[in-house]
Amino acid sequence: MADRPSRGDVADVAIESLATGGRGVARIDGYVVFVDRALPGDRVRVRLRSARRRHGEADVLELLEPGPERIEPTCPHVGACGGCRWQALAYPAQLVEKERIVRDAIGRIAHLPDVPIAPISGADDTLGYRNKVELTFTQDPELGPTLGYHRAGRWDEVLGVERCFLVGDAPNAAKDAVQDWARASGLEAYDQRLHEGHLRNLVIRHSARTGEVLLVLVTSDVDLPRQGNLVDELVERVPGLVGLLHQRNSGMAEATRGHPTEVVHGRDHHREEILGLELHVPWNGFLQTNTAMCERLYGIAIEEARLTGSEVVWDLYSGIGSIGLALARDAGRVVGIEVVPEAVEQAQANATRNGIANAEFIAGDVAKAVAPLVEAGAPLPDLVVVDPPRAGLTPKAVRRVLELGAQAIVYVSCNPTTLAGNALLLVEGGYRLESVRPVDMFPHTPHVECVARFVRA
Ligand SMILES: C[S@@+](CC[C@H](N)C(=O)[O-])C[C@H]1O[C@@H](n2cnc3c(N)ncnc32)[C@H](O)[C@@H]1O
Repeated sequence: MADRPSRGDVADVAIESLATGGRGVARIDGYVVFVDRALPGDRVRVRLRSARRRHGEADVLELLEPGPERIEPTCPHVGACGGCRWQALAYPAQLVEKERIVRDAIGRIAHLPDVPIAPISGADDTLGYRNKVELTFTQDPELGPTLGYHRAGRWDEVLGVERCFLVGDAPNAAKDAVQDWARASGLEAYDQRLHEGHLRNLVIRHSARTGEVLLVLVTSDVDLPRQGNLVDELVERVPGLVGLLHQRNSGMAEATRGHPTEVVHGRDHHREEILGLELHVPWNGFLQTNTAMCERLYGIAIEEARLTGSEVVWDLYSGIGSIGLALARDAGRVVGIEVVPEAVEQAQANATRNGIANAEFIAGDVAKAVAPLVEAGAPLPDLVVVDPPRAGLTPKAVRRVLELGAQAIVYVSCNPTTLAGNALLLVEGGYRLESVRPVDMFPHTPHVECVARFVRA
């Protein structure tokens, strides 16, 4: 094919590598094609779904020859389920791809090809590692309401799952108990296309360390029926259950924020242990989703912070305070800024609970809250830690961080692409990117975290 291929074309291609987002990268006479659900070394027959000027997108019609690192996945749903996109790729090969994705982002987007990228820190446990999952109900014509995950690439179709291997026994027991109750309840699963039905989602949070389980059952605007008492069933079948909340979501979207939510049983938070800290996690509060690897990530952030005991540290995007509190032991003072007020309250309570007196947390949007704090005479930071959501820092937030003039910035990132974009701005603003250390928090998925250290040039 000398010309650029067209939409609908069929071609046999070899997958070279995996791109950010997890798709396979292939070339047709030099033209780059992103192939869904293909793995490195695979030879696949594909059909082009789109053919833009610079690259195309394609679906696999047939796996002609599997790549050398393809393995038999543990979970029978791999391929159909939208969850573990890389489970059929041997774990060491997943790590190679993630490290390359980070190197690529820093080289091509931040234009910093010479920055040292450390070898990725791989996970010890590649299954059963998640401390939170969000399942969706679907109506099985024979079985009734069934819990599962969205089908790969589908917002409107849910695949019932027998067991999710990314979580341990307790969350799976909770799923089964709620599903059995649902089938006896007379309620039907919510249909996202028709906007009919009642049962929408089940959020399960679990700490393997404290053994505690917290559940949020999301329905449309209905009362929970009495048939087969849900709480009795859960208490009997879910070891460690500390709370059940009921959220009424009468909106179209699946979001679990901003809808009326009440405690039906127990409490509205569970306890987790991270680096010796006891953290209370509110039902809607952010917590890194892999507790063991969260300790690894924070451990690296602590190393890169290089504190001596006297420094002022600003922990931006502080959540329930976990990083700030872990750093407070080695710092003079910690100031956290976080936009969710409940998380700020919990961060403050977490400080008290752990006997930490040199950390305070402030509610606000980083882009807006930093300047008034400086004007009010808050002590300026020696070190800024940022741990933003996947979208990274907005240009305005980058400007505020630059104005703080800290000696060093430790950037904890869950998205190498936005880290690289922000790195470009921070370097333009007078910092040097000293090192990047990738960490694998999410085996079998394309996600990769990084700790980057910037110093004032
Ligand atoms: C990736 S989480 C990190 C939380 C915490 N550092 C941790 O490790 O658990 C990002 C946090 O940023 C908060 N956030 C999002 N946008 C924000 C903003 N504009 N200003 C302040 N906080 C924000 C979120 O609520 C969330 O708690």
